[in-house]
Amino acid sequence: MEQLIERAARTHRLTEEEITRLLAAPEAEEALARAADAVRRRYVGDGVHLRGLIEFSNICRQDCCYCGLRRENARVERYRLDADAIVALARKAKGYGYQTVVLQSGEDAHFTAERLAAIVRRIKALDLAVTLSVGERSRETYALWRAAGADRYLLRIETTDAALYERYDPGMSHENRLRCLRDLRALGYEVGTGSLIGLPGQDARSLARDILFYQEIDADMVGIGPLIPNGDTPLGGAAPGDFHLTRRMVSLLRLLLPEANIPATTAMETLVPHGRELILTSGANVVMPNVTEGDYRRKYALYPGKICVADTPADCRACMGGRIRALGRYVAADKGYRRHGAAR
Ligand code: SAM
Ligand code: SF4
Ligand code: FES
Repeated sequence: MEQLIERAARTHRLTEEEITRLLAAPEAEEALARAADAVRRRYVGDGVHLRGLIEFSNICRQDCCYCGLRRENARVERYRLDADAIVALARKAKGYGYQTVVLQSGEDAHFTAERLAAIVRRIKALDLAVTLSVGERSRETYALWRAAGADRYLLRIETTDAALYERYDPGMSHENRLRCLRDLRALGYEVGTGSLIGLPGQDARSLARDILFYQEIDADMVGIGPLIPNGDTPLGGAAPGDFHLTRRMVSLLRLLLPEANIPATTAMETLVPHGRELILTSGANVVMPNVTEGDYRRKYALYPGKICVADTPADCRACMGGRIRALGRYVAADKGYRRHGAAR
């Protein structure tokens, strides 16, 4: 195992077989994390990029079997912020020192291509980088948003196993998800994608294939997180995703995509207190603190036990700043675009 990890840290290449072996080896976890932390420092440095997350609508036309926002879930209290409220949150995020905002929502048809483009233009005028995470749209729509100034797009592939994807995302097609990622890349977005860890039927080999896929498309950002079962969804009775497997996956991602931006996601902390710090020292270099205000945080209920629902955006900013400094790292002052050829 040690030799494999050393080779991965040096060449950033492993076979599907080798990745599968490491993912399935709990005893490899600490060595993987140490190696990934060193590669992280060498390629992307000690700066941690903070992205302010604005959850602007929980209305969704899709019906993903794991997600509390799915259209069939009548128990979630739906909301939608208007354009002025979204821009006001972005302005506040800027005031807290964020350089990037992530606009995330369900697939809400109210936000037509033109409506969201207008919001992106207003936020770009504040000199912020804008990441969109609003699901599957046409190439024309993605092109309009890119022209409006959107810099990045997050669309997790969730799993590269097409059959598994279509089982848990009924009515959606794996091929269309791939088409979206191809279009986003061709349009010049920084492309973020990632996996949901712990879908029933997903195994280490399937996750190894996910990593090879991220290498193949040269993903700029890879955000992965454990499945947190939501009792109001068909996967409510599933076991939660394994934190340790997720941690090994993050470390392997860093070893094999050394320049990528890799977040320590909120779901990790829902499973393990201070989980984000552990992930930041296992290869990650990004955190996405919530800048949504008031009761909307609670209502954006993908899964139960979401952290920070009672905290304010100012709390989260101060909290993450302190936690990052306590790790001996610092909050990066730039917009945090993906670095190319950045090994030092
Ligand atoms: N609607 C957009 C989409 O699906 O791409 C963006 C918002 S969606 C809520 C963002 C991510 O939340 C999904 O890609 C999925 O991986 C994650 N998610 C949804 N339900 C979850 C759950 N129960 N546990 C962990 N992550 C979940
Ligand atoms: Fe909608 Fe995204 Fe949730 Fe699927 S994961 S139900 S597309 S919000
Ligand atoms: Fe929200 Fe710590 S990140 S209070």
